[in-house]
Amino acid sequence: MDPEIIFETVNLRKEFGALVAVDDVSLKVHKNSLHAIIGPNGAGKTTFFNLLSGNLEPTAGQVIYKGRDITHQPVHRTIHFGVGRSFQITNIFPNLTVFENVRLACQALGADNFKFWQAASAFKKYEQRTWEVLERVGLKERAFDFARTLPHGDQRKLELGMILAPDPEVLLLDEPTAGMAAEQVPELIALIQEIQRAGDKTVMLVEHNMNVVMSVSDRITVMHQGAVLAEGAPAEIAANKEVQVAYLGGLYELNV
Ligand SMILES: Nc1ncnc2c1ncn2[C@@H]1O[C@H](COP(=O)(O)OP(=O)(O)OP(=O)(O)O)[C@@H](O)[C@H]1O
Ligand SMILES: [Mg+2]
Repeated sequence: MDPEIIFETVNLRKEFGALVAVDDVSLKVHKNSLHAIIGPNGAGKTTFFNLLSGNLEPTAGQVIYKGRDITHQPVHRTIHFGVGRSFQITNIFPNLTVFENVRLACQALGADNFKFWQAASAFKKYEQRTWEVLERVGLKERAFDFARTLPHGDQRKLELGMILAPDPEVLLLDEPTAGMAAEQVPELIALIQEIQRAGDKTVMLVEHNMNVVMSVSDRITVMHQGAVLAEGAPAEIAANKEVQVAYLGGLYELNV
């Protein structure tokens, strides 16, 4: 086992009936890296994340996390191993406050969530952790606002906070900037980068904005029709003719 590799998939495959959504993907993700997965709509990116997080069972192949086979572990187990994930659509409780959203995420995923006799001290711990997280994502001032009243960009920050709550080692972020106004994107991306670097975390990012992907990624994997079309550093991917044809219909040159 290579301690530098935090996540590895071996011929990972997911079929939905006759459709092969993830087609024998073998991938290695380096610890403390920002690894982007790109590819056209329907390429299998979200399905791939679902296999990593345990939201879906693969048809074949393996998922290895820190040297351990987690292929058949359900999502509530992978979270305890240190895998946090977001969804493509905003996933907050609109009628709870910002604070309550994050506290619930701390509580639901707390390592000791079944030890009710520790309730009083655990409660304090969750509150402390909630403030820490709100500070991290810059939402302290909005702690007692209802989540539904936040602008979309802040809702996505809140989601990030909810993923951060149990202090995961890996964050699987599926289009975290989706639906955001263009001018809000750099701030969220800077926050993600800060969290990744300062917190020694590994981030796997699905993102359609090529400028973002090219500027923040250490490595990029390109998926196409379920399979890996290319993998490399941003400059290699940008220069890859096959990628340009598959991803951009050959219409654009990818600029780094
Ligand atoms: N639960 C499911 N049942 C049947 N087919 C599915 C299911 N989930 C995904 N698919 C199909 O699998 C393929 C891959 O979908 P997936 O959502 O993983 O793509 P994606 O790369 O995330 O696309 P996008 O960029 O649009 O989010 C698509 O053809 C999709 O229709
Ligand atoms: Mg998707």
